[in-house]
Amino acid sequence: MTLKIGKTNQIPAFLAMQVMQDAQRLEATGQDIMHLEVGQPSTPPPDVVNSALSMALGRTASHGYSVALGHPALRQRISAHYQDWYGITPDWNHIAITPGSSLGFAISFLAAFDAGDHIAIATPGYPAYRNLMAALGLVPDLIPARADQAWMPDLEALASSGRLPDGILLASPANPTGVVIADDDLAEICGWCTRHGVRLIMDEIYHGLTYGGRGTTALKFNQDAIIINSFSKYFCMTGWRLGWIILPDDLVDNAEKIAQNLFISAPTPNQFGAIAAFDCYVEFDAHLPRYQDNRDRLLAGLPAEFLGQHAPADGAFYLYTDISAISSNAGDFARRLLHEAGVAVTPGADFDQTEGGRFLRLSYAGSRHTITTAIDRINGWLTTIK
Ligand SMILES: Cc1ncc(COP(=O)(O)O)c(C=O)c1O
Repeated sequence: MTLKIGKTNQIPAFLAMQVMQDAQRLEATGQDIMHLEVGQPSTPPPDVVNSALSMALGRTASHGYSVALGHPALRQRISAHYQDWYGITPDWNHIAITPGSSLGFAISFLAAFDAGDHIAIATPGYPAYRNLMAALGLVPDLIPARADQAWMPDLEALASSGRLPDGILLASPANPTGVVIADDDLAEICGWCTRHGVRLIMDEIYHGLTYGGRGTTALKFNQDAIIINSFSKYFCMTGWRLGWIILPDDLVDNAEKIAQNLFISAPTPNQFGAIAAFDCYVEFDAHLPRYQDNRDRLLAGLPAEFLGQHAPADGAFYLYTDISAISSNAGDFARRLLHEAGVAVTPGADFDQTEGGRFLRLSYAGSRHTITTAIDRINGWLTTIK
């Protein structure tokens, strides 16, 4: 007898994670792989953060649950961080600590929307947005963002399309393009959402990783927005699985109930350890020149046909590049690059199911050695396949 399985079997896999798994399998057989597939810093957080975690492990309170929205001390420190960076102090009671921002999206979607509601997302965009929406019965409305429009989603086209979405989810800096929304444009987008009654969810997890000034938060311009952030990128704490949301007043109760029932609380010792991260801006900022140098090396060292249309990449640590001059099948190309040259990259289909077959995403969060070796290997391999 065939037993029922959920329609979630139709959800596409997260290709970056699959490439990482394939790369690790090859490494287990002794192959040397340069990892440019997953967006995670190759450097650990500073020692004081690790010591704060060790000290937390010595406290009895660390070994139980925290309250569902997270330990007040961390939420208060995050509120102070907004004062440090943006000059605003959100009410810490509106801040929720989540197991990675990934669960922050789940909470936000469940708190603000019902099955069947539409949420507009820019394409290319982070795959988990649309995949998680599909799993929850939400409908992603894809707004194209193209290289010749500086990869900005066209909101006026959305407004004139006849059906406004219930929500819109945007990221700045964006994954995979690295595009940063200028403060003026962000204010404009926030105003557009208010005028049209559309709930804004703003993914700010790459904040701090910008190469031309810090930029501001959407919270300044839209009090109804849900702001999502994480310790995974700027703070180099990817495996700690900690993120946060800043909730508007009308969603705090919903979010709390969902958190209680979905995961009870984020990992408690990590919450205590994470407080120390906000004393380390200098150490975290010190990684920016390396990321920027890695990006510049890729742009200077890869052949022109590998660098077709690409975004300016002035934030995050990704280069999203059109390789159609070399291959019409970026998925196959990425597989060969991994197996034949030992360089792991992510096929664009992860980010754009229509046009992504022409693109690759390269993460430049790794060490200089990783980037320079990858460039040499890509150049060497391309001469063998011509
Ligand atoms: C744009 C974006 N949002 C959210 C996430 C999820 O990150 P985490 O769950 O580690 O906070 C990622 C991870 O790469 C991302 O690129």
